[in-house]
Amino acid sequence: MKIVMLGAPGAGKGTQAIKIADKYGIPHVSTGDIFRANIKGGTELGKKAKSYIDKGELVPDEVTIGMLLDRIAEEDCKDGYVLDGFPRTIPQAESLTKALAEKGEKLDYAIDIEVPDDNIVKRMSGRRACPKCGATYHIVYAAPKVPNVCDNCGSELIIRSDDKPETVQDRLSVYHKQTEPLIAYYKEEGILRTVDGTQDLPKVFEDVVKILG
Ligand code: AP5
Ligand code: MG
Ligand code: ZN
Repeated sequence: MKIVMLGAPGAGKGTQAIKIADKYGIPHVSTGDIFRANIKGGTELGKKAKSYIDKGELVPDEVTIGMLLDRIAEEDCKDGYVLDGFPRTIPQAESLTKALAEKGEKLDYAIDIEVPDDNIVKRMSGRRACPKCGATYHIVYAAPKVPNVCDNCGSELIIRSDDKPETVQDRLSVYHKQTEPLIAYYKEEGILRTVDGTQDLPKVFEDVVKILG
């Protein structure tokens, strides 16, 4: 099963993708997580990505496309994956379609999680992230068992540097300009499915499972 998650920053792509990966036994591939791991590790890729991410802009396609295609060529991705945060531009989507077609493969679903902008800003201010295992929490809607400590690995949770309200606004406008056109792209391909992301977390997942079967 090959799945793409669509939706604005903070719509819940990561939250749902982790649950999908767990239930269907496929890897969760998040380009944002890959960039953040590289920033933490101080790699060349990380240095390049950081300047864009901190401004809420997209990392250039030349960097991102090759990185993602390399990742899904790894052994653990051979029976499928859930992509979170990729594609984010039409050229990224076209490159993915083309790379898959060359192997006689295609995506099965593009799941769009719909959440209005004003709702997003509220969500982001309460998000906390685990810098070690990538788990995501919310101080009200998805609180960890012990305040500020990751349930999975015990690390101290952090606020992502791009979750400042000004940067969230910039990310939202980048989303509307560059990423939202993908909804029409995947509709055209006949694989678009939409879920109402304003519902509570378990209900959103229920709707996702109804789609995936
Ligand atoms: P990335 O890490 O992908 O960030 P994003 O797309 O902006 O999305 P988020 O991770 O912020 O949101 P999400 O939808 O995963 O929401 P979450 O589940 O955490 O990318 C970061 C940056 O990297 C980009 O800005 C860009 O610079 C660069 N980048 C990445 N990929 C790229 C690409 N392909 N091309 C170019 N550049 C790229 O949920 C949010 C919060 O809400 C959480 O606190 C959660 O607990 C809570 N929540 C979730 N669902 C619900 C619910 N139903 N009800 C209540 N609360 C909820
Ligand atoms: Mg995410
Ligand atoms: Zn953790």
